Amino acid sequence: MKTRQDFMKMKERNEPITMLTAYDFPSAKQAELAGIDMILVGDSLGMVVLGYDSTIPVTVNDMIHHTKAVKRGAKDTFVVTDMPFMSYHLSKDETMKNAARIMQEGGADAVKLEGADGVTSVIEALTFGGIPVISHLGLTPQSVNVLGGYKVQGKDTEAAKKLIADAKRCQEAGAIALVLECVPQQLAEEITKLLTIPTIGIGAGRQTDGQVLVYHDLIGYGSGYVPKFVKQYGSISETVQTSISQYISEVKNRAFPEEKHSFNMKEEVLHSLYG
Ligand code: KIV
Ligand code: NA
Repeated sequence: MKTRQDFMKMKERNEPITMLTAYDFPSAKQAELAGIDMILVGDSLGMVVLGYDSTIPVTVNDMIHHTKAVKRGAKDTFVVTDMPFMSYHLSKDETMKNAARIMQEGGADAVKLEGADGVTSVIEALTFGGIPVISHLGLTPQSVNVLGGYKVQGKDTEAAKKLIADAKRCQEAGAIALVLECVPQQLAEEITKLLTIPTIGIGAGRQTDGQVLVYHDLIGYGSGYVPKFVKQYGSISETVQTSISQYISEVKNRAFPEEKHSFNMKEEVLHSLYG
């Protein structure tokens, strides 16, 4: 399994880090088999696999449930789990307990937290307790209602300066990596140069130390709206839809199951039934 040190070395060598979300056993297994560097059990699971319209309803128990499945599918991959909405804001006690459960019960190797204001002390406390933290800045979906929508962040001087300062604060607090979501590529490049920890971008251009995508977006599975920063490498939805349609029509017209899908009993047993 790659570790924090490996990710630091990859940054030094200028070798891109690949990260992909996974939410269950098969997706994690496929990501590991393909050789992904790290897996993110993102709270995007709220939208992608639970059908909510934001990440806000996601609970710590949801995250633990999915992390367990992911870890069973990818035992040899560094797994990062999102701390969900309000699970690291109420008190230090509550925060530490939630993160500890995600590690101990879920089996995560690190947690990810959104934001810097009010959160850097949390990054410090978790790191001090032995829980590696990945920070997440730029578009932070748990704050969608504060930000006023899913928009590119850090576009003007003030916002860009704030993002740079926040990135440095997260690193100083002990973050082992930084996810940058939906920021101008020039800003992501600047932050990547300024930090010693790896940056992992999504909608943050080509100069970050790594990239992250949502599993379902990458394979083209079941997502309606596709953001500009996504590249769909497959179109699994079509395959799934035609497979299910074919199954329905074959059952309706008795083309499935066939003889080869069926079990037989011995002739004499059959006769003995009507003895
Ligand atoms: O939840 C998630 O999938 C994420 C990535 C988009 C970085 O946080
Ligand atoms: Na997330």
